[in-house]
Amino acid sequence: MNLPLQDYLVNLHQQFESLRGGQVATYIPELARVDPDQFGICVVATDGYTYAVGDSDALFTIQSISKPFVYAAALADQGREFMLGKIGVEPSGDAFNSISLHPQNGAPLNPMINAGAIAATALVAGEDASAQWQRVESVLSGFAGRPLTVDESVYASESETGFRNRAIAWMLRNAGITSGDPMPALENYFRQCALQVSCRDLATMAATLAHGGINPRTGERVATEEDVQAVLSVMTTCGMYDYAGNWLYTVGMPAKSGVGGGVIAVLPGRFGVAVFSPRLDAIGNSERGIAVCRQFSHDFGLHVFGPHHTQGLVLNRVYTAADAPSRRARPAALRKLLDQQAPRICYLELQGEVALDGAEYVSRRIGELAGSVSYFILDLHRVSAVTPGSARLLEQSRRQWAAQGVTLVLSRVGAKQGVAEAFRKAAQPAGQFWAQFADNDLAVEWCENDILLAQKAVGEVAECFHTPGQFALFAGLQADELKQLDAIVQRVSLPRGTLMMKVGENDNDCVYLVLQGEVSISMPLPDGTQQRLALLGPGAVFGEMALLGRRRRTANVQVEQDTVCLALSASELDQIARTAPQLKIVVLRNLACELAGKLTRANHLIGALAA
Ligand code: DON
Repeated sequence: MNLPLQDYLVNLHQQFESLRGGQVATYIPELARVDPDQFGICVVATDGYTYAVGDSDALFTIQSISKPFVYAAALADQGREFMLGKIGVEPSGDAFNSISLHPQNGAPLNPMINAGAIAATALVAGEDASAQWQRVESVLSGFAGRPLTVDESVYASESETGFRNRAIAWMLRNAGITSGDPMPALENYFRQCALQVSCRDLATMAATLAHGGINPRTGERVATEEDVQAVLSVMTTCGMYDYAGNWLYTVGMPAKSGVGGGVIAVLPGRFGVAVFSPRLDAIGNSERGIAVCRQFSHDFGLHVFGPHHTQGLVLNRVYTAADAPSRRARPAALRKLLDQQAPRICYLELQGEVALDGAEYVSRRIGELAGSVSYFILDLHRVSAVTPGSARLLEQSRRQWAAQGVTLVLSRVGAKQGVAEAFRKAAQPAGQFWAQFADNDLAVEWCENDILLAQKAVGEVAECFHTPGQFALFAGLQADELKQLDAIVQRVSLPRGTLMMKVGENDNDCVYLVLQGEVSISMPLPDGTQQRLALLGPGAVFGEMALLGRRRRTANVQVEQDTVCLALSASELDQIARTAPQLKIVVLRNLACELAGKLTRANHLIGALAA
């Protein structure tokens, strides 16, 4: 079964199969031999997934579509400022082979017309033309994701007849845009135009531009994001030559055409599109290529200036610590205090790319909530990228609110490309970082502790635990029943770092009552990290599912501080219950109440997260 976009492309191919307008190029004699009715369409997503229909693997020569990629190489080799001094970035409004040179300095108006492209090829790094060619061939192969080779017959055909380009090359030399003998570099230009590609290769090259310079099929970085931005800019204004205005008006994506019959279009951040159909219109662009891209853009609203509804999209969820308190077990009095203060801690779950609109919206929402909220946890787990400007905007928001006693912290930044880096670079003064937490539970615990400290509540209600009777699990037992428990519990000391229980292990049937110290309960996640489920201190109980006969552990238990517990064997408790069944009934009822409380809190959190 085809994916829907594959079916769409098949229909699009059928829709334009009958379009037979235009002629193949003949001014390069060898191109006249191309089968005019070949027709392929290919789309490559920025994760490398490829859709292909028709003659997507037929080889043809790349021609002018090579120009943006060679321009990227020259930018990398010479730098933007140097290149701006040699080649302009203004649309010429003329045909691709026009001799459009700046009247004052003789510089080509842009790198997409032949004059600009010949200059770019001559400016690629290399101590001689042979080294330059190696560089050109390597870069274009990097964009395609496979070694590209020259169609020697097309190369020879253009080298023998390319008199206009030879004149352009000498004019560039005359103007000092290039240096030395211009002919070897011009031969490199003819060779680059004769590199053989398929529609699939072109879509991969376009997708590499869409993916910020990283080839989505090989993972290789072929160009920097800054150079890709420059290349896409000139493709948008100049890539279709004297059709550039109409193209931007009707299609609205950065593009480049070639007289070999190829057209590429780029939707930045999403995918690359390529069409192959050798019949050209009077301007030298593929007739079907133009028609297909116009229809594709219309059908999916791809125009770069089309309506885009992003406001508020970046903020996926807003909820508070009332919905999701920390999983740290606290004495009842402290938990009661924190329950009252919980609405002062607010989670903002962000998603997708945080650009200006997203950062602006989040900073505005913080302002609206700050009257009743003292802590904002920015959960970045679903964030794919943060632009540097947005990180600076949020950093300024953090500083401004810190001065008002409102704290912004980051949670789940993870290892996403550039997110942590964007915030690190934005931190002012340099080196003053955002408070960052591996997960939301750690973040909300930190906020709770801050509240307790501010209320000077920590030391006052610390309870000391010595016997089972102090634990909620044994509330309601009679003195003689408690005496029987005291007789069977074992006092155990657990040094910090001990892994007491492991998920899936069938270990002892003990229930543990924490007298002093701290243990964390966690579960392993598929990515190898641990999700903390609880942090238990004095008065807490763990392993209680053994009372229900469950021996297989469902979580890891790690000793975080030197800890002393009372260990109670479930089977020994059952032994006592044979003569004192009421004891077990009371314990199980207490356990049911505790589990019911955990279930209620879990349901409340699910409700908040589902909102
Ligand atoms: O230099 C030339 O004329 C050819 N090698 C390339 C021209 C081209 O592809 C124009 N694009 N539509």
